[in-house]
Amino acid sequence: MMTMNNDSGESISLWMDTASIPLTKTLEENLRTDVCIVGAGISGLTTAYLLLLEGKSVVVLDDGPVAGGESGRTTAHLVNSLDYNFTELEEMHGEKGAMLAADSHSTAIQRIESIVKNERIDCDFIRLDGYLFPGPGEDPDYMIREQDAAHRAGLPGVVKLDRAPLISFNTGPCLKFPNQAQFHPMKYYAGLVKSILERGGKIFTNTPVTSVEGGKNAKVKTAANFVISTSSIVMATNTPVNDLFAIHTKQAAYRSYVIGALIPRGSVTRGLYWDTADPFHYIRLENVQGGKTKNDILIIGGEDHKTGQDDDPTARFDCLEQWARERFPMILEIKYRWSGQVMEPVDKLAFIGRNPADADNVFVITGHSGNGMTYGTIGGILVTDLICGRKNKWEELYNPSRISLKATGTFLKENLNVAAQYADWLSGEDEKNAAHIKPGSGALMQKGISKIAVYRDNEGKLFTFSAACPHLGCVVNWNDTEKSWDCPCHGSRFSATGKVMNGPAISNLKPADS
Ligand SMILES: Cc1cc2nc3c(=O)[nH]c(=O)nc-3n(C[C@H](O)[C@H](O)[C@H](O)COP(=O)(O)OP(=O)(O)OC[C@H]3O[C@@H](n4cnc5c(N)ncnc54)[C@H](O)[C@@H]3O)c2cc1C
Ligand code: FES
Repeated sequence: MMTMNNDSGESISLWMDTASIPLTKTLEENLRTDVCIVGAGISGLTTAYLLLLEGKSVVVLDDGPVAGGESGRTTAHLVNSLDYNFTELEEMHGEKGAMLAADSHSTAIQRIESIVKNERIDCDFIRLDGYLFPGPGEDPDYMIREQDAAHRAGLPGVVKLDRAPLISFNTGPCLKFPNQAQFHPMKYYAGLVKSILERGGKIFTNTPVTSVEGGKNAKVKTAANFVISTSSIVMATNTPVNDLFAIHTKQAAYRSYVIGALIPRGSVTRGLYWDTADPFHYIRLENVQGGKTKNDILIIGGEDHKTGQDDDPTARFDCLEQWARERFPMILEIKYRWSGQVMEPVDKLAFIGRNPADADNVFVITGHSGNGMTYGTIGGILVTDLICGRKNKWEELYNPSRISLKATGTFLKENLNVAAQYADWLSGEDEKNAAHIKPGSGALMQKGISKIAVYRDNEGKLFTFSAACPHLGCVVNWNDTEKSWDCPCHGSRFSATGKVMNGPAISNLKPADS
């Protein structure tokens, strides 16, 4: 039996619509295992698979379905040309750091390729070239500087071209990154799940984890009060749900938007494309129905903003569509619109390794920005090495306890932004009269000195919650695209009816009258 994967909002991605995952059960007993992994996205599944190859016993727990988080909402570019370009990485982490980063992502693509081959996963994996082109007003010398930095980072094949191979618009001078890759992510996870289960790994879904304790008697507890006793714990929950502060002051949650447009096959040259705009656009193709139709889906993403800090997220799709139609006039129809959440680390690299201020046997994989397909895989490789007591050359680079003084400016900017969100307690309400809230919609209202989050379902029933995010008390905001309550401070998200969907919060919104 297979299942549809969505636990992070209302929108449906192309991947959720065109593949499914083998059905898994909910945990109904206490268990003992070598490693307990929380989160069944690409990070958790890859870690589970690689640990099984090492002979470890593994239990994976997820509060929703497999890949119901951001792994189902990705666009699945597999690249060593990262969201933070090599000029930025070199400035922040030095030449050696940029080189190790490039090496880790190249290795991750190779590892995905070998897993696909060894496990015979039919997931449309292909190698293809990527093109970085200038956004409006970009410094004409930028591409030369970035090419030099990419070469210093150990990517000598990066070349400058007069334009990317797109017929419908002239990108201007661009950089070609050879030998990148793409796949159908949901088909890949389906293959990983099958391999994990065949090797004796256990995956339990609809099993929320409510507490995690490292040390000699490490254990993971679930909402239904079952306990996993374990030697090591891996938090692969996109953002850690076991920390109040440690990592959350060092990364920020952003929403990103994607449209999938039907285009005649062959009208856009196959490749991966990104510009240098801020926020940037990212583009790839998907060959629908195994090439049996005359069309492809052109996948275009961008329009990122801080989670919970946009009054009209739905308008982001319109901006994206306008941008796309101006450049790709062959678009026939928009078939998909979805959004998702990316975690942006202040010093531009992911946090993978031992969880700060925790016992030595609690590990975390987070801070992926828009490169989580490869970071999730790097996470699997690195954490497996640490659990098996092996040295790993990327350990220091991705150490979650690192403090990068050069990132102080971004750190202060992001945390002042968080502090400013508490002023929402003093600002006005969205709606004075609950009767004005449309079916399928939500709004903030004032109740005495407090704020409440009010949702009216499609049948007209009202649901009311305290608007205080259970993580650290910021006021949640209504997201009409995903029909969710989003916290502007560290990106926790709750369903329309108050169920926690994204950490760091680990509990639901409280009822208004509690
Ligand atoms: C629009 C968009 C486009 C992107 N494009 C790309 C791209 O082109 N290339 C790329 O490399 N990356 C891309 N990314 C980033 C990438 O998709 C993510 O970084 C990656 O999927 C994160 O994987 P993960 O396994 O760490 O987290 P997730 O996939 O979010 O998995 C975490 C899991 O933990 C579970 N969980 C959370 N809390 C609990 C709890 N308390 N108990 C139990 N389970 C819990 C969740 O339900 C979820 O299933 C994109 C992301 C977005 C949103
Ligand atoms: S996510 Fe931290 S206060 Fe809401």
